[in-house]
Amino acid sequence: MKIFLRSYGCQMNKLDTALVSSALGEAGFSVADSEKEADVVLINTCSVRQHAEERVFSHLGHLKHIKKSRPGLVVGVIGCMAQRLGDKLLEHEAVDIVCGPAQIPQITKLVTETLQEKKKKLAVSEKIRQRSPESQTQALERFESAYGIGDKQIPGQAFVRAMRGCNNFCTYCIVPFVRGPETSRAPAAIIEQIKRLADEGVKLVTLLGQRVNSYKYPAPPRGGAGKKTYSLADLLEMASEIEGIEWLRFVTSYPAEEFFDDILQAIADLPKACNYLHIPAQSGSDRILRAMNRRYTAGEYLGLLGKARAVVPGIAIAGDFMVGFPGETEEDFEATIELVKRAKYKNCFIFKYSPRPGTTADKRLEDNVPAEVKKRRNIELLDVQNEISAEMNREFLNKEVKVLVEGLSKKPHLNRGGSENSPQLVGRTATDYIVVFNGPVSLAGEFVKVKITETSALTLFGELI
Ligand code: 5AD
Ligand code: SF4
Repeated sequence: MKIFLRSYGCQMNKLDTALVSSALGEAGFSVADSEKEADVVLINTCSVRQHAEERVFSHLGHLKHIKKSRPGLVVGVIGCMAQRLGDKLLEHEAVDIVCGPAQIPQITKLVTETLQEKKKKLAVSEKIRQRSPESQTQALERFESAYGIGDKQIPGQAFVRAMRGCNNFCTYCIVPFVRGPETSRAPAAIIEQIKRLADEGVKLVTLLGQRVNSYKYPAPPRGGAGKKTYSLADLLEMASEIEGIEWLRFVTSYPAEEFFDDILQAIADLPKACNYLHIPAQSGSDRILRAMNRRYTAGEYLGLLGKARAVVPGIAIAGDFMVGFPGETEEDFEATIELVKRAKYKNCFIFKYSPRPGTTADKRLEDNVPAEVKKRRNIELLDVQNEISAEMNREFLNKEVKVLVEGLSKKPHLNRGGSENSPQLVGRTATDYIVVFNGPVSLAGEFVKVKITETSALTLFGELI
């Protein structure tokens, strides 16, 4: 039996897709290169914006056509949309299985049974905000530990979940309603997993959590009695001791003072902890931040960045912003531009507000910023950031950087295609800068030194040393 997997959404989702893929591999399924040769198609979905859901629906429309000529094809929808839409999604003509993020340990059973019984299957959490039963958490833990290795999507790199869910309730955000309450995984399980990844040759581990800097887990201290609450700083320290692991990153951080000091100190003290933070601000207007239920002001946010740069000189900072939140005026938007100018991000992800059913913003506020205004603000903000990125990137000219090679460059840059033995490769620095250079593809998963010869807003170009 052949299975085709498609993943939309964040790194959390990519990790789930990798886990599902390993579990099905273990159960004897092989991976199909395309939908055409697949017996089962699984789509891991995202609900964060309407656009993400629309892409999945158009994919499902396509699968509906395929099923006309191949009625035996089994189509499963997993992930955030599965949890959000549940039985409504199961009514879709193309869909046979709907499986939420908390139910992925059941995926092999669901797929096998559907292939045999030809009956639709639904597995989602009925009350997603209730603390999940211990049996479910244990099943997720077992699934994660059993399959959380050997995801070789990018050679030498792996994602490890530190936390599940979210309790933050930013008013625009669907995540708490599809991923459930915030829970931290046991440090022993995380460290054990990283050790096994290191044994498999993984050099860069990225710890994942919706608000990863608030990781906390009470457990007895190592080798002693009593109680200790493990923080992200502790995780970084323990992971740093693992031989073979060279770089450690974590995403995404929430800009709250109380979680910050020990983590910044850990980055400063631990050579393996990358000097990199992804710390979304969302807006530069205090009025909008309040309406978003973000618990900081623009001034406090900039204060945090200042502190980060004081403790970790040269730290690279990435941000997320949303334009067109309900009631966002030109003045609010100007404040966002001002914040972006002052924050000096390495790069920013910018999104247009998209109302999500069930969230407070959707229930209480009108989506009253016209689409063309959202679009214009998006472009304008991106232009501001691009100029900053281009200027900051020029500092790299003629400098040497250490790069972890990912593999062949996906979009070969014009006239720099390289030769047959030395094609165009892409990799990243510890601080997450994208570096493009020519070299043998066997370097994928290795560290190399590159001398930067040219820069743009998004990319550093260079020569292998
Ligand atoms: N509309 C637009 N963007 C959103 N994000 C989260 N929810 C929404 C929404 N309803 C953005 C935020 C977050 C990123 C992952 O997605 O900027 O940081
Ligand atoms: Fe990830 Fe959020 Fe999208 Fe779910 S809704 S896939 S948690 S970004």
